[in-house]
Order: sequence, then C-alpha cells, then structure tokens
Amino acid sequence: MSSLVRLPGLVDVHVHLREPGGEHKETFATGTAAALAGGVTAVLAMPNTSPPLVDEATFAEAERRARAEARCDYGLFLGATHENAGFPLRLQRRAAGLKIYVNETFGPLRVEELPAVLEHLRQWRGPGPVAVHAEGLMVPALVALATITGARVHFCHVSRAAEIAVIRAAKARGLPVTCEVTPHHLWLTEEDLPRLGPYGHMRPPLATRADREALWANLDVVDCIATDHAPHTRAEKEGPSPPPGVPGLETMLPLLLTAVHEGRLTLGRLVELTHSRPRAIFGLPAQPNTWVEVDLEAEWVLPEQGWFTKVDWSPFAGMRVRGRVIRTVLRGTVAYEEGKVLAPPGFGKNVREERSEET
Ligand code: DOR
Ligand code: ZN
Ligand code: ZN
Repeated sequence: MSSLVRLPGLVDVHVHLREPGGEHKETFATGTAAALAGGVTAVLAMPNTSPPLVDEATFAEAERRARAEARCDYGLFLGATHENAGFPLRLQRRAAGLKIYVNETFGPLRVEELPAVLEHLRQWRGPGPVAVHAEGLMVPALVALATITGARVHFCHVSRAAEIAVIRAAKARGLPVTCEVTPHHLWLTEEDLPRLGPYGHMRPPLATRADREALWANLDVVDCIATDHAPHTRAEKEGPSPPPGVPGLETMLPLLLTAVHEGRLTLGRLVELTHSRPRAIFGLPAQPNTWVEVDLEAEWVLPEQGWFTKVDWSPFAGMRVRGRVIRTVLRGTVAYEEGKVLAPPGFGKNVREERSEET
C-alpha cells in the first residue's frame, strides 16, 4: 500500500519575506524556496519591511523585486499607518489585502488610534480582506469595528482561549470575520520557553497549555492555518534584544500531517485550512496543475539546520514527525523534489496579476 498522497498546493496567507531592507534574514528567493520545500505554492507577504509597504512607491518596488525573485506564487499586503487610509482603488486591487497592526510587533508599523483604524476599515474595498494583528481586548474591539463598518476583517495568529471564544461568538452571529492560527501556537506553549529561550520569543507570545488546547478544541471555527513565517538570524535572536518571530514555512505541513496521523485532524480538513479557505477568503486564482506529493508514513526528526530559509533554524527542531514533502509541482513544473528546489527565481506569479490564459 502506497503512503504517497497528492494534496493541493498549500496557500500560506501570512509570511514575512523581509524585502526590502531585511535581506540578511530572508529574501523573496530564499523564502519562496522554503515555501516550495514545505509544499506551499502561494504565499502572502507582510508589509512590515524596511521601508514598510505603505504607498505606491514602496509597494511598486516590492512588486518589482518579487516579480524578479519569487519562486512560488505570491501576493503582497499594503500596510496601514495613521496617515494612509484611502488608498487609490487601483493600488488596493494589486494588494493581497490591507494589514493593520493594532498591537506591538516587529518594526514601526502600528495604528493605535481609533479614528485611523475606523477610517481604514471604511475605505478599504479589497479584493482582499483587512488582516489585523490584534491581541486581547483588541480582538472584540475589531469585531465591533468590522460590524459597524461592514469591512471583512481577518484575524491573524489567534493564540488565546478568550480570543477564539470571541471569534466563535462573532461568527455565530454572522459577523464578517475570519481567522487563522499558527503551527507554533498549536504545538508550543510558554512551557517551552526555558528550552527555547529567545528562539521562543514571538508576537503574540507563546501562551498557556489551556490556550493551546482551546485552539485545538475550536479548530472548527478556524478558517486557515498560516505560518507567520518570521525569520530572524541566530545572531539577532541571541543578541541583547531578540526580535520576535520564528520561521515556519518548511515545518507546517509535516506538523499538520503528524496531527492527521494522530487522529487530531482529517486530511480533508487539513486541505480546507491550508488551501480552500485561504483561497476563498483572499480571492486567489486557481493554480492549475499544482500539487504537493507527501509521504504520509515517512517518520523523521525535524533537524536543527539544513533548511532553505536563510536563517536556517527552527523552533520545532528535535520534534519527531510523521509525513514528509516528496515533491511540489507548480503549474505543471516540478518546483521541488527530494531536497532540491528546482523553480528558479522569477517563476512565481503575482496572485493579483491578470491571467487571461487561465480560467
Ligand atoms: O513574532 C512576530 N514577528 N510577530 C509579528 O507580528 C511580526 C513578526 C516579524 O515581522 O518578525
Ligand atoms: Zn502579527
Ligand atoms: Zn506576522
């Protein structure tokens, strides 16, 4: 009996690829290599770069670089500031979505004042949703603002029991909200901090065991699993003020397949969480002839190094997993196979580009 299975290419709606300004951590070329090795065929990249993507000029420069360098398909978020509500519609259409950071995070992008958040929600037309980094009381605050404005709000990396309870209640009332959870919040807790040290520092922070169990128990109201792939170098992590964030593109699928093996998730639900719902929420085009071939029975230990991400470490190193990516095929071309990334820089397409040749 073969243990090889084909899944649709994963769509990761939350990655940090660090261009421009953070090329020592990751680039479009290295981050998308990591994606393909992890069975991810489309990534949506966050705007907290340096400079951040907050207007036509900064956005166009990132588009130009991604077009030349990305190996898998990609979209780029625009970032909200206190001043830039009301982007030209043409620019909104080129973006994966609008990202608003209402809580503290890596980099200077932040919108803490209510009038500015409200204005962004009023003026955003899509086609992508407004993705928010909101923690604690900011979750119900943003649910209220979504209700008032009618804006589609997508909650990034929900990590706590009370937050997922609020989202469950909001959805039960039919409010226009969706959410994602990350593998690190599903697999790690604050109890791992003594072992991980600065490598376990991220925003939102690792939570309690009860929080983690609440995410699993409420997985039926979760729309997507997304990595929040947020690479920082070992030197930065071990320096005097470690930046928050962990890489995750290459470990998400092995971890999820392990959950399938353990009976905590079905393969069908895995596909919904990593492919169908992300595509529907962000209005992404189909990727014809695109799949990832996995060996469901392969057992291996996630290594300390040897990853494609430029920072070459993983907070999951040492974990025994069941399930491995053998091959990733993107639009009919083998893009990754048995340890080798074959898709060259520039192979990736922008998900917001017109594709007259495809249905
Ligand atoms: O841990 C995090 N890292 N959380 C964020 O919100 C930002 C991210 C980053 O860019 O490093
Ligand atoms: Zn965030
Ligand atoms: Zn993030």
